[in-house]
Amino acid sequence: MTPRAITIRLAEHRDAQAIAMMSRDFIEAGLGWKYDAPRVIRAIRDRETLAAVACESGKSAAARGTLIGFAIMEFGEERAHLVLLAVRPSHRRLGIGQKLLEWVLQSARVAGIASVHLELRASNDAARRFYRAMGFYETVLVPGYYRSGEGRKEGALRMLRVLRQPGPVPYTWRPPRSEEDR
Ligand SMILES: CC(C)(COP(=O)(O)OP(=O)(O)OC[C@H]1O[C@@H](n2cnc3c(N)ncnc32)[C@H](O)[C@@H]1OP(=O)(O)O)[C@@H](O)C(=O)NCCC(=O)NCCS
Repeated sequence: MTPRAITIRLAEHRDAQAIAMMSRDFIEAGLGWKYDAPRVIRAIRDRETLAAVACESGKSAAARGTLIGFAIMEFGEERAHLVLLAVRPSHRRLGIGQKLLEWVLQSARVAGIASVHLELRASNDAARRFYRAMGFYETVLVPGYYRSGEGRKEGALRMLRVLRQPGPVPYTWRPPRSEEDR
C-alpha cells in the first residue's frame, strides 16, 4: 500500500473537537478530561500558544484531511512547555510524532526559546522512549502530579531539551568591505 501524504499545519477552530477527543483518549485517559474542545479552542486562539496538527490526505473528499496527530506548545520568554502531543495508534512508529515535534521545535528556535520542558505520566514508557530518542532528558520525578476527579494520583516525569544557552542571543556579522578594499 502506498502511504498517503501527511501535512503538518497550524491547528484551526474546526480541528478542536478531534484534538480534544485524542487528548481524552490517548493522553488524559483515567485522569479526567481537561483539554475539552473549549479549552483547545482557547489554546488555538492564544497568541502565546502554538497548536499544530498532522493530517493525512484521503482518496475521498470526506476522508481528506483526517487528523492523525497534534502538538500544543506554550511559549514563555526563554522556556517553552510542550503541553500535549499525540499520534493516533493506527499511525504510530511512522515518524509522524517526530515530524510534529520537529515542527514545533523549529518554531521555538525561531522564537528564541532556550529550552523546552514537558511532563508525562511516569508509567508512559513509550512516550519516555520517544522523547529520549528526540534528544530530551529526564530531570525529576514528581510524585502525585496528576490527580483525577476520583482522587486517583499518578507521578509525572519531567523532561527537558536544551535548544541554546540561556541569556541574550549574541548576533555577529561582518559588514561589507568598503570600495577601496575591493
Ligand atoms: C509518543 C508518541 C507521540 C510517539 O509518536 P510516533 O509517531 O509513534 O513516534 P515516531 O514514529 O515519530 O517515533 C520516533 C522514534 O521515537 C522512538 N519511539 C517512538 N515510540 C516508541 C515506543 N513505543 N517504544 C520505543 N521507542 C519509541 C523510536 O526511537 C522511534 O524511531 P523508530 O520508529 O525509527 O524506532 C505516540 O506513541 C503517542 O501518541 N502516544 C500517546 C500519547 C502520549 O503518550 N503523548 C506523550 C505525552 S503528552
